[in-house]
Amino acid sequence: MTSTADIRQAFLDHFERAGHTVVPSAPLVPQNDPTLMFVNAGMVPFKNVFTGLETRPYSTAGSSQKCVRAGGKHNDLDNVGYTARHHTFFEMLGNFSFGDYFKERAITLAWDLLTNVWGIPKDRLTVTVYHTDDEAFDLWKKIAGLPDERIIRIATNDNFWSMGDTGPCGPCSEIFYDHGDHIFGGPPGSPDEDGDRFVEIWNLVFMQFDQQPDGTRVPLPRPSIDTGMGLERVAAVLQGTHDNFEIDIFKALIAESAALTKTSPDAPETRASHRIIADHLRSSGFLVADGVLPANEGRGYVLRRIMRRAMRHAHLLGATEPLMHRLVPALVTTMGGAYPELVRAQALITETLKLEETRFRQTLQNGLKLLDEATANLKQGDTLPGEVAFRLYDTFGFPYDLTEDALKGQGIGVDRAGFDAAMAEQKKRARAAWAGSGANATDSLWFDLVEKLGATDFIGYNATQAQGEIVAIVKDGAEISAAQAGDEVTILTNQTPFYAESGGQVGDTGTIEGSGAVFDVLDTAKPLGKLHAHRGKLVSGTLKIGEAVSLKVDAARRSAVKANHSATHLMHAALRRVLGEHVSQKGSLVAPDRLRFDFSHPKALTADEIAAIEAQVNAEIRANLPVGTRLMTPDAAIDAGALALFGEKYGDEVRVLSMGRPADTGRSYSVELCGGTHVNATGDIALFRIVSESAVSSGIRRIEALTGEGALAYLAQQEALLKSTASALRTRPEELPERVLSLADTVKRLERELAETKKALALAGPAAEAAGPEQIGSTAFIGQVLQGVEAKALRGLVDEAKARMGSGIAAIVAVNEGRAAVAIGVTDDLTATVSAVDLVRAAAAALGGQGGGGRADMAQAGGPDGGKAADAIAAVKAAVTQALGVPA
Ligand code: ALA
Repeated sequence: MTSTADIRQAFLDHFERAGHTVVPSAPLVPQNDPTLMFVNAGMVPFKNVFTGLETRPYSTAGSSQKCVRAGGKHNDLDNVGYTARHHTFFEMLGNFSFGDYFKERAITLAWDLLTNVWGIPKDRLTVTVYHTDDEAFDLWKKIAGLPDERIIRIATNDNFWSMGDTGPCGPCSEIFYDHGDHIFGGPPGSPDEDGDRFVEIWNLVFMQFDQQPDGTRVPLPRPSIDTGMGLERVAAVLQGTHDNFEIDIFKALIAESAALTKTSPDAPETRASHRIIADHLRSSGFLVADGVLPANEGRGYVLRRIMRRAMRHAHLLGATEPLMHRLVPALVTTMGGAYPELVRAQALITETLKLEETRFRQTLQNGLKLLDEATANLKQGDTLPGEVAFRLYDTFGFPYDLTEDALKGQGIGVDRAGFDAAMAEQKKRARAAWAGSGANATDSLWFDLVEKLGATDFIGYNATQAQGEIVAIVKDGAEISAAQAGDEVTILTNQTPFYAESGGQVGDTGTIEGSGAVFDVLDTAKPLGKLHAHRGKLVSGTLKIGEAVSLKVDAARRSAVKANHSATHLMHAALRRVLGEHVSQKGSLVAPDRLRFDFSHPKALTADEIAAIEAQVNAEIRANLPVGTRLMTPDAAIDAGALALFGEKYGDEVRVLSMGRPADTGRSYSVELCGGTHVNATGDIALFRIVSESAVSSGIRRIEALTGEGALAYLAQQEALLKSTASALRTRPEELPERVLSLADTVKRLERELAETKKALALAGPAAEAAGPEQIGSTAFIGQVLQGVEAKALRGLVDEAKARMGSGIAAIVAVNEGRAAVAIGVTDDLTATVSAVDLVRAAAAALGGQGGGGRADMAQAGGPDGGKAADAIAAVKAAVTQALGVPA
């Protein structure tokens, strides 16, 4: 038996031999198309190559593309498990010509592979062509030699393929395999065509048009080829079965779920459940590996629906514990070889499935009980009331289609309109409750938008560019349908790579481009925590609702922000290690140029502590380990050692970021809950440097730090400063400390010498001579004003003057920095007549001060008005004159 893996390889080899470039599968989340939920055909990644928007270095290609058809135009979810060949996840083998070959070579290559390489008997094959496509009809005749009755003309859309409501499309030709008359069914176009006998295995699309939103079709630049062959279907053919679920891959997965539940893989009552589990395991695993996580909206909700549908079937099989995650090893074994992303994401897939199933099981039992009660009196052909389906949804987490699926076996339908009405009613109540909460008018606009649009999707954890569709434009607080050049507006798209400000991380900036239009995004905010609002200015062109646009984040700025955000986590961990577990985050700002982090700690950090924190963070940066992201319940995250973020509002599940080397506990250096964007590996941070540490308020410290280029620029600047300082001091940087110390010594010494010199000058200089004792009556008197002399020198100066005179009175005023100080000395023989205390009071009064003190032989005082120094001397003289009774 040829394995599915070999068949995949044989297909790719066949086209490589024929000159095609083999291109790896693109991720399931479309990178280039806002209108699609998931990649649903092999051509999707090449959409822009067909339309000429994008060129590649090759003009023909082959691929095995992962596809999910569980939402949007191509949705097979409801059929899976009950038919032989519907899947939510499948692989599409395809060959593509971008304006290279057209119908003839496409048919030749396909026919050659089927009949020569794989040896499928020609009489088992039947083809269809679009009813007007005579050219294809004739080519089939010529190349394959098929008789006319096995080239069937089909007039319906079955033979006109389009990717979605818009995008490349064209007439197609399908190849059917006849499994034989032991199986019920008729050829395509016949009344029994839906039977399993004739199975379409390959679709050759002759791409010729690009369908526009208004329904018109614009010819593609050059006719092209897009083909798609379901790998599972062709594997069934080549493995001799008509049932996809009997090919090797499914057999292996089903054997595993049968073994784990101890049930039969193919008994009538368990068969569908095993098939649903196997199929949904594949789609869940691949979606998680491509970054989709279960959520209540958008892609995440489709995933949740798929997962829960499988989980109900695990329950039906009697599993009492979560089952799905235990099947992941089998999935990785069967498909990890061709898709290494499964191996890489194995832990995440396992945890995500386990978490979802654990949570769902908590309500599943009660929900099923409610369902049983509600259907007790219903019989085949009846309808379950919509409110019951809504209660199951709202209270028990049963997606609508799960309820439908649960009743399918009993032939009971569900009232969809009633379900929708109950949902609308609940929204109305939520709105009324919200309106009463005092929210303002702008919030009301956002609320309307959330209600209308649901949350907008952030798809920028690993990308800075993506396509999106404009879903709202807001100008001056009101919705508008189009923006003109010059308008300052806020634009919302269904999905965006722009991170909206939250958790301290600033919003992204960049551009949004439409045809001929460029919108500068100045900031991205997150109203109500659900919408990504790009605020900015339309620089040129016009943009309108419904338009597909390219969203381009300023990637360099985002990189810098990422480095700062990851460094914040490492620093938080370092702070707790160096300072203690009492450190908790009180706020943070993560900007492109720096990071700021506030935390509880009672006192300033020492230089040693700062150095230790820097050293730890830089050591983790150098270890350059990948940064891990997981999704967990808040409790599980806390158990795993995650530090909760300040003010974070938790939803049902949280993102847990692990960074750095594992510690003795087995946990990574840093484990935190965080919704922000982060580096892939710590080495991307490059360098970490704290530039300031300060107090915010009592008990709260703030650190500002730099990373990468910023840190490097800072260090360069510091070094330049050092060099210029050294050169100004005529030394080398490494000798600066010594040089500065010695300079400080010199300055101190010079100051001392200067003071001495001034004092000496005051005593011996011309001023002193000139002021030499005068006589008041018969008493000697020295009155002197000294500039720039300190008050504390006065006492010594007065003593010296007294000694010089032998008998007399000395009054010296020292003026320094505008203020004055005065000291008066009276020799002992005179103190009975004249008191220095009285004299100093007179002087102090003249200097604008008051008081003064001392003894009769020596007293001192100060005064604010140094300009009155001469007046003070005069006042002292007058007082002496009076005290001595000398006639004036
Ligand atoms: N794009 C075509 C399909 O999906 C081949 O059937």
